Amino acid sequence: MKNKRALYFTLAAAGIVVVVLFVMWAGNDFQALRSTEPPIQIRYDMQYQTKVGAQQTSTFFADRKSMRDHVPGTVPRHGSMYPYTTFQEAEAELTNPVAGNTSVLARGKNRFNAFCSPCHSVTGQDTTEVVRKGLQKPPNLAGANAKSYSDAHIFHVISAGQNIMPGYADKLKPEDRWAIVNYVRELQKAPLKYADASVPSAAAADTASTAKVNTGK
Ligand code: HEC
Repeated sequence: MKNKRALYFTLAAAGIVVVVLFVMWAGNDFQALRSTEPPIQIRYDMQYQTKVGAQQTSTFFADRKSMRDHVPGTVPRHGSMYPYTTFQEAEAELTNPVAGNTSVLARGKNRFNAFCSPCHSVTGQDTTEVVRKGLQKPPNLAGANAKSYSDAHIFHVISAGQNIMPGYADKLKPEDRWAIVNYVRELQKAPLKYADASVPSAAAADTASTAKVNTGK
């Protein structure tokens, strides 16, 4: 008698567990099965949040940018300001501290492909999607002009930007910027695919390059 009760109890408990699991599975729109219907959302707030994503327009700020510019004069923790406003100052003070050995070039390639190739292409010479979508075509990095730049000048362009090209001092550590300089030199050894169009003068470049300069690590 006692055993029978225990058996019923176990069966009932197992039954409840099965029902609960089934209901949960159903609530999850039988996810293990294929369905072309949109899933039933039990908790909306997890997937749909009021937020702006990177590169999105924001109606919250007057300038409609969701990604905020740095507050002028601020530096990240453990960061420092990129001190030069003209490439001549950079040239007077800086020399390339890293040799273009294999590991430096590998690092330079990695950083170049991540940070520079969206506009300059992986070869530094080709047309990229952002240019097809309307960005001013950047100068050929293997062109005569960029080739004539000193290492410090290229470092300055990466750090402070040049005209519409933004500076990357707040995103790339100095070692990485120098690694990129070495990698750009490597790209410049490739055959020239096309000659430069007119390149803005250095003076014009410098007035624009300083506005957003902020930090370096
Ligand atoms: C948002 C697109 C963009 C990104 C990203 C970008 N650049 Fe540029 N770059 C440009 C444009 C546009 C110019 C031309 C600016 C001008 O009109 O002076 C330029 C100019 C340059 C120049 C000067 C060439 C010359 O002949 O005057 C160098 C060197 C350069 N970029 C290197 C880099 C490196 C290295 C990176 C990565 C750290 C990088 N750029 C990232 C758009 C970009």
